[in-house]
Amino acid sequence: MEILEKAQEMQKKGIDVVHLEVGEPDFELPECVANAVHKAVDDGHTHYTHSLGMPQLRAAICNYYKQQYHVLVEPEQVLVTSGSSPAILLVLMVLLNAGDEILMSDPGYACYDSFVQSAGGVSKKFNIYESDGYQINVSAVQQMINQRTRGVFVNSPMNPTGVLQSPEVLKQLAELPVPVISDEIYHGLTYGCTARSMLEFTDNAFILNGFSKLFAMTGLRLGYVIAPKKYMRALQILHQNLFISACSLSQYAGIAALTQASNDVENRRKIYDARRIYLIERLRGMGFSIEIPPQGAFYVYVNAQHMASDSYKLAFDILEKAHVGVTPGVDFGSNGEGYLRFSYANSIENIEKGMNRLQQYIISKGL
Ligand SMILES: Cc1ncc(COP(=O)(O)O)c(C=O)c1O
Repeated sequence: MEILEKAQEMQKKGIDVVHLEVGEPDFELPECVANAVHKAVDDGHTHYTHSLGMPQLRAAICNYYKQQYHVLVEPEQVLVTSGSSPAILLVLMVLLNAGDEILMSDPGYACYDSFVQSAGGVSKKFNIYESDGYQINVSAVQQMINQRTRGVFVNSPMNPTGVLQSPEVLKQLAELPVPVISDEIYHGLTYGCTARSMLEFTDNAFILNGFSKLFAMTGLRLGYVIAPKKYMRALQILHQNLFISACSLSQYAGIAALTQASNDVENRRKIYDARRIYLIERLRGMGFSIEIPPQGAFYVYVNAQHMASDSYKLAFDILEKAHVGVTPGVDFGSNGEGYLRFSYANSIENIEKGMNRLQQYIISKGL
């Protein structure tokens, strides 16, 4: 966020900045989704909905999981929230008493730890490494489990690495004696492979998902959690008290997204893929080693230790000198230090401009 804010300050001064730091699709809403919002306004659907979410949307989510993963989810297992972020918080509030522990990877999505702390818990991190293709070492995770452990996060495809965990790793995670909190927000954004849902491996899982990434609906704030039935009443009571319901208009948009937007999604996925291939090629051409090309989300995560050991300073220097925004690896955990994350949620023209500038920067520094 600090890189983004600094970049915005520079833009106000008239400096042209290329944004490769943002984790937000650059696409507009799919047309069918925008139409559904307008229609919902015209039809006066502007009131609170059921606290679990509209029945039609929950049914559409169940159908979607059936079609995509051949798993049976019942509507009473689905809670619709304002983005997946509140769903993460609610799950942790239900699972954690003060001092209880949640396991998560380093690097990993930075906000998980903030949610755990807000719910009174403690995050315990396990490292994942480039040399292992960023696959989780499940026996190491198993050894961290104790009486206070309440769950383990998995995010596949993953922010920041763009990597998918192998089915074997997912299967091993499913066999752990604690629930898996599976963040499936980047599902559908995969290139040459398919993401597997944790529900294909176990029912002892909380599935977090939403419409922000695949359907480019970040501002509509719509997400959901699929949970084992025994937790649903507690989740619903918390949701009623803290949030009442998700936005009614966005829920109509969500139904349209799940039932009508598949062509838009597929066209955009192909565009992301072309950008991914281009970005990887350019970064490799500048001396970054990318041994296993990321196959999901819209990120390329690279080792930049040959440029600087402090990724935060490096990202600021690249922004100030080359006018390109990138995210420092240390944002994703101390094990991410020395790395940079490039987002390809930007046009190929902008990616090209950003890469040209980065190349000049590297040449001018003699790196
Ligand atoms: C891994 C991951 N999970 C969850 C979220 C939250 O997304 P939202 O609250 O928009 O659904 C993000 C957003 O960047 C993310 O990268």
